Amino acid sequence: MTSSTHPAWDGLILGASLATLDAPQGYGEIRDGVLAWKDDRLTFVGSRADLPGTPQKLAREVIEAHGWITPGLVDCHTHLVFAGDRAREFEMRLGGASYEEIARAGGGILSTVRATRAADEGELLRQSLPRAHALIADGVTTLEIKSGYGLDFDNERKMLRVARRLEQLGISVRTTYLAAHALPPEFAGRSDEYIDAAIEWLPRLHVEGLVDAVDAFCEGIGFSPAQTRRMFEAARALGLPVKLHADQLSDLGGAALAAAFDGLSADHVEYTSEDSARAMAEHGTVAVLLPGAFHVLRETRLPPLDAFRQHGVPMALATDCNPGTSPLQSLRQAMQLACTHFRLTPEEALRGATVHAARALGLEDRGVLRVGARADFVQWHIGHPAELCYWLGGRLAHAVHAGGHRVV
Ligand code: NIG
Ligand code: FE
Repeated sequence: MTSSTHPAWDGLILGASLATLDAPQGYGEIRDGVLAWKDDRLTFVGSRADLPGTPQKLAREVIEAHGWITPGLVDCHTHLVFAGDRAREFEMRLGGASYEEIARAGGGILSTVRATRAADEGELLRQSLPRAHALIADGVTTLEIKSGYGLDFDNERKMLRVARRLEQLGISVRTTYLAAHALPPEFAGRSDEYIDAAIEWLPRLHVEGLVDAVDAFCEGIGFSPAQTRRMFEAARALGLPVKLHADQLSDLGGAALAAAFDGLSADHVEYTSEDSARAMAEHGTVAVLLPGAFHVLRETRLPPLDAFRQHGVPMALATDCNPGTSPLQSLRQAMQLACTHFRLTPEEALRGATVHAARALGLEDRGVLRVGARADFVQWHIGHPAELCYWLGGRLAHAVHAGGHRVV
């Protein structure tokens, strides 16, 4: 299958155990495993005994590894592009103020809107880069980033452009239009008119190739189900998939609304009802759990995990990296929090941060180690995959490959 002078594959890594996740249950473990790739795709996934020749003849570069290799992690819900921080608000919440009180007083999301509007594109990129680097260093190879701190055409565009520019780091970026995140001050008292404006900006950003999906914050302090529906209809008219910040602080039926639009995902979902969970299962809508926000807001209401399991709703995990509710810069840490707070098993957490997260972005070519999938994988210094959820902090990723290239 290969000539001795021209190895068919670009790279091959061997000596580690593989967690392929390429089966409905279990880690899909292959001991003494081998991965090979050409260009950005995996060309071999198996054990050393099954290799059709000697490694050096099969691939131009042969890497000796140890520990475990998993698919590259997929962070399917972040607000990573923003300026400033909200450490002061964190102090206020510790002093007793609630997230909703701070938002209603003009702080919260709107304080990040002010800082983000004030930063030019270069400055916004400069402030966002370290967060992207931190996520990648802990294993992320696909990163979703939302707009939603610009809230006018130029500033939403600026955020989405910065998000796309982060692909320079060698990873995949998916952008989500979240203009329906908060009501900007210039539209105070006119939320329907703001939605009209946000609907008008969408096709203009879409033609620039800046939008992969559309999201909204459906909540008492965000937008109503009727306004969310209008935003979703605009997305559907452009053939764009939707996802939703749903049922985070109250049950407005957001997850069911996302399902009714065949949404890729409903996210947060602490207050989601069993009926909504059933609707999600019917429409293949993924539940994206955001344990960082749960943890930081000291939330006590758990998402309906048993209903999700019972009805077969895939559960994904994400950092929700944002300056207000989840200043979290490690998806592995989100896996740890999901196990601790939500009692996910480490296996559920790993699936949640890989194959289910890919699905929450509508991506079917990653999140598993399988021939033909993207060559996105992480080599970890661990003796068992459960360690990924066990350590708090620290550096476990030894090497991170995205699209066949080493990025860490
Ligand atoms: O996912 N819930 C709304 N949006 C973000 C928080 C954004 C912020 O507070 O800046 C979230 O939790
Ligand atoms: Fe969010």
